[in-house]
Amino acid sequence: MDTRVLLVDDDEVIRKLIESILTKQGFSVTLAEDGPVALTALASARFDILLLDVMMPGMDGFTVCRQVRANPATRHIPVVMLTALDSVENKVKGFEVGADDYIAKPCDALELVARMNALLRRMEGPPEASLDSEPARTIAVFSLRGGSGVTTISVNLAAGLAQLWGMHVALVDMVAVAGQSALFLNQSLRNTWADLCKIPTDEIDPDVVLSAMLAHQSRVQTLASPPRLEQGDLLSGEKTNKVLDHLSASYPYVVLDMPHNLSESSLAALDHSDVILHIVQPEIVSLRAASLALDTFEAIHYTDKKIYTILNWTFPRQGLALKDIERLIKTRIDLVLPYAADEFIPALNLGNPPVLQNPESPLGAIFEDMAMSLSKDEHRAKQSPQPTPAWKRVTERSRKRKQAQAG
Ligand SMILES: Nc1ncnc2c1ncn2[C@@H]1O[C@H](COP(=O)(O)OP(=O)(O)OP(=O)(O)O)[C@@H](O)[C@H]1O
Ligand SMILES: [Mg+2]
Repeated sequence: MDTRVLLVDDDEVIRKLIESILTKQGFSVTLAEDGPVALTALASARFDILLLDVMMPGMDGFTVCRQVRANPATRHIPVVMLTALDSVENKVKGFEVGADDYIAKPCDALELVARMNALLRRMEGPPEASLDSEPARTIAVFSLRGGSGVTTISVNLAAGLAQLWGMHVALVDMVAVAGQSALFLNQSLRNTWADLCKIPTDEIDPDVVLSAMLAHQSRVQTLASPPRLEQGDLLSGEKTNKVLDHLSASYPYVVLDMPHNLSESSLAALDHSDVILHIVQPEIVSLRAASLALDTFEAIHYTDKKIYTILNWTFPRQGLALKDIERLIKTRIDLVLPYAADEFIPALNLGNPPVLQNPESPLGAIFEDMAMSLSKDEHRAKQSPQPTPAWKRVTERSRKRKQAQAG
């Protein structure tokens, strides 16, 4: 079936030009010359994608986009903003109102079509149901100190698990407002926790939760944090539990990007988790915060088996020595993540985590191996009939390590 495009632009020349490009590519195109005409068209027919000019007399493209996103009947439609204003501010504003992509006019025909196709692929359906009848393995990434690399590790771990098993993985941003998991994957915030906060807890069902997830080509599906305060209605422990229960029934793995606190919803999420990756940095404030967290974990009877400690070198020099760190927090460090700004900063700018961008690099390997070691026993135990490239790399590295140990 043809992909149905609604093209909204006040300039007739541009409408005709883009219409001819898209028609040749097999799209079926409907034209609208302004915002109100577009909204009327959207109310009467189904469209697969919306191309939206920004500068239009009367109602501008941002306003149209906001209305499309506010309406449950149209909120899922991918939106590409078209504009002569190729400024960062406009891009940011476009993403804030829920646009998925942005193209500067005059646009190149090939680029326009490639971006539309990429977007349509990215928006493909909700996740397949979990292949296992077992509930998800839920992994929380946590630190009481900000800037420890919690989001970095959550995103790379979720993407690593998705690549390793070729399955959808849920990445849940538990930060109440302006958390950044989705931004690390360059996802626009078309749906967030705010959609779930609006609904009474007893009306939260699996469909409602799945429709709040943002799809990504890596098979990671993100439950994003709302960008603004008024949307971040405080999340109760009860609602947190309900949402995580549904996710756990729909995905084989759930990764939680945790806030740096022990609020009611944080504790509910930590209780829900099978494993807590506790992130520490090699400096005293981080280690004191880690000790406080460990005291709390002990008080609420989390066993050592539930907690993995990761030392993250977020700065290059002058950190404390490993043995001093272990002595201070009275805990063994399970894994050291080296300082890697050269990889992490471009990853942020591109919205593409190192485990996806460069899985064969030493840093990519750390996250792939981490994903394997945190996987379900039943997954680790059996060889898949169609192993993924990531599975083959992890298995090969493990074989070499064993060989080196034996030899
Ligand atoms: N091992 C590392 N080497 C170099 N830079 C790192 C490393 N780990 C994280 N970073 C950088 O540190 C910064 C903070 O990381 P991140 O946002 O993941 O931490 P966070 O704990 O989630 O912070 P927040 O308090 O904002 O939630 C980012 O710029 C990230 O790229
Ligand atoms: Mg974070």
